[in-house]
Amino acid sequence: MSTIDPQAARSENVTNIQVDARHEPDLAIHVEDLTVSYGTKPVLWDIDMDIPPGVLAAIVGPNGAGKSTLIKTVLGLIRPAAGHVYIHGKPYRDQRRLVGYVPQRTSVDWDFPTTALDVVSMGLYGRLGWFRRPGKREKQRALAALEQVNMSSFADRQISQLSGGQQQRVFLARALVQAADIYFMDEPMAGVDATTERAIIEILRKLRDQNKTVVVVHHDLQTVTSYFDWIVILNVRIIAQGSVADVYTAEHLRAAYGGQIALLQSNSFTKDTQG
Ligand SMILES: Nc1ncnc2c1ncn2[C@@H]1O[C@H](COP(=O)(O)OP(=O)(O)OP(=O)(O)O)[C@@H](O)[C@H]1O
Ligand SMILES: [Mg+2]
Repeated sequence: MSTIDPQAARSENVTNIQVDARHEPDLAIHVEDLTVSYGTKPVLWDIDMDIPPGVLAAIVGPNGAGKSTLIKTVLGLIRPAAGHVYIHGKPYRDQRRLVGYVPQRTSVDWDFPTTALDVVSMGLYGRLGWFRRPGKREKQRALAALEQVNMSSFADRQISQLSGGQQQRVFLARALVQAADIYFMDEPMAGVDATTERAIIEILRKLRDQNKTVVVVHHDLQTVTSYFDWIVILNVRIIAQGSVADVYTAEHLRAAYGGQIALLQSNSFTKDTQG
């Protein structure tokens, strides 16, 4: 056989083929040699990133470091200049049903005329197909997810008429109904009060405890060690990645944030390798 059908190559029961369509299947997320540019300026440079399954992972780095771009590229929303992304060993397009996404709040058009319940129901469309309207069972699942984030009394409220923290909870509920295996959340705790932050981290921990992989862009460096067990420190390039216990050091943060690191207390790190 001289030609290889990529469809067949992907199928589990075809062995001994020249093209191995699976890459690092034991990793939840495997990113190789990824470079992304807007126009000519590279905003992510030669990224290799591995995230194992069942971790609660933080992506940290200063504003403009490329955190949102990295997530959007993994989700196929941005086309990279180079590189590959694998979700459980396969390209994202084959795995999209496994993946849930909570976008950064500032990137969403909140004037879109839709209710909180509609937004959550959209999380089910991946399963339903775009042309089927959600039925009674789907509506019940969406309501149950709103209940989980304490928002069921706002189900019929227009999304534009909710506060920022309430909007954030609705988007979390939308991700929850997807019953995904891997979640990407872009700053889910930005601009929420302490109660909402606690509620969100509890939900994220529960997902992790169900062996799901949760990847969160996070800005509050003081809470990294208490919230997360895995970390990716990014500033255009990968500065460090690994378990929080191993790589969350003042030295790596200085490399990512430069002078801004003076604002941080050294006792919020696992190690201070400086001196
Ligand atoms: N659509 C776009 N067109 C051109 N440049 C962009 C676009 N989106 C982002 N950028 C630039 O790419 C770089 C990375 O942006 P990105 O949004 O990924 O950063 P971030 O780490 O998520 O930052 P923040 O912490 O502020 O959310 C920035 O320099 C930004 O100005
Ligand atoms: Mg961002």
